[in-house]
Amino acid sequence: MSLGKATWPPFLWGVATSSHQIEGNQHNDWTRWEQAGRVAEPSGRSCDHWNLWPSDFSMLHQLRVNSYRFSLEWSRIEPRPGEFDAKALGQYRAMLQRLRELKIIPLVTLHHFTLPLWVSDQGGFLHPKATTWFIRYVTRVMHELGDLADLYVTINEPLVLVVMGYLIAQWPPGQHGFARALRLINRLRDVHQAAYETIKAVKSNALVGLAHHLIAFEPWTNSLPDRGMAHVVRYLMNDRFVRMVRNHQDFIGVNYYTRQYAHWSQGLHPIQNRAQSPLSDLGWEIYPQGLLALLRRLKVWQKPILITENGIATRDDSLRTTFLQEHLKVIGDAQRQGIDVRGYYHWSFLDNFEWAEGYAPRFGLVEVDYQTLTRHLRPTALRYRAIIEANRQRYPISVP
Ligand code: BGC
Repeated sequence: MSLGKATWPPFLWGVATSSHQIEGNQHNDWTRWEQAGRVAEPSGRSCDHWNLWPSDFSMLHQLRVNSYRFSLEWSRIEPRPGEFDAKALGQYRAMLQRLRELKIIPLVTLHHFTLPLWVSDQGGFLHPKATTWFIRYVTRVMHELGDLADLYVTINEPLVLVVMGYLIAQWPPGQHGFARALRLINRLRDVHQAAYETIKAVKSNALVGLAHHLIAFEPWTNSLPDRGMAHVVRYLMNDRFVRMVRNHQDFIGVNYYTRQYAHWSQGLHPIQNRAQSPLSDLGWEIYPQGLLALLRRLKVWQKPILITENGIATRDDSLRTTFLQEHLKVIGDAQRQGIDVRGYYHWSFLDNFEWAEGYAPRFGLVEVDYQTLTRHLRPTALRYRAIIEANRQRYPISVP
């Protein structure tokens, strides 16, 4: 199985971001959610990447990454139904052009959690016309920008969108409704499939997938009920959606962060961590081996895999370095076991707006001072660069 052009490097070494988390946006459903005081703090100007992208791209170059995953902000591109903003499209075009000059392969995400206000006002993706709306946007993007990008993620983490917005209700639209959540899952499958087909119709050699949020679920104890619950949770949260879109993925995108524990008494609410485990600042267990278990399960699909996100919220950068190295080692092990992992995108390039948690969590290889907007490469960034340089033509990868 091959991913991409013969001229592409054997492994995509990247970093990832999303528009709302770095650009400084005032146009979408999250902006309104923030203004309503539903989050730790509003995103405001964020990293002001919308203005500072040229120097940020120089930092990408300094990192020596050969790929960059970022998202297009639908609410900028189509601020009103059917009205496209030439300036916004022009800027994204300039960004893609610059990446080309820098020989950095873009991986473009079309939807990363945010919706234009006019879409969310009408019920978001649940509106009967939502697929048509999304496809209108995707078609326009492909005609305006498609010549500059070959790799696409249609939707970032569909199940996270559903769980956070429609079950736990910590994200917009802040609803609790099981039936609605189930409907939305099916709708997001349809949206993805339609987007897949639209992209291919405009550009037949594009490679399209989506980014699945996969958690390493394990039973809390070895008891039969806990093991049973682990199977159920794994199926519903990890496997089911991958299966649902199996015929519309050129690669499987995996966002991996942590392990959680299934306990029969908790039902579909796994326990986040064990007290004795090493944890990130968000309380997420650091567990590189969980990635290997997930990758082994994905092998049945016989598709190339991209690790579309992996990273840690921490103020202790030496912990970040260890986290990065350990996860990369696991990827090398997986490749040696015949699992076709073709790329790795560290989350995140820059410190950024971590949704409901605001700016306290620090995920960046690049530290951002939000007062002055100055950026600094953290030591982990330099370590990442050394690993990339040592692996330029290598597959499987190794961590020197
Ligand atoms: C999301 C990112 C988020 C990251 C860390 C992923 O689920 O795609 O937007 O910042 O996790 O929480």
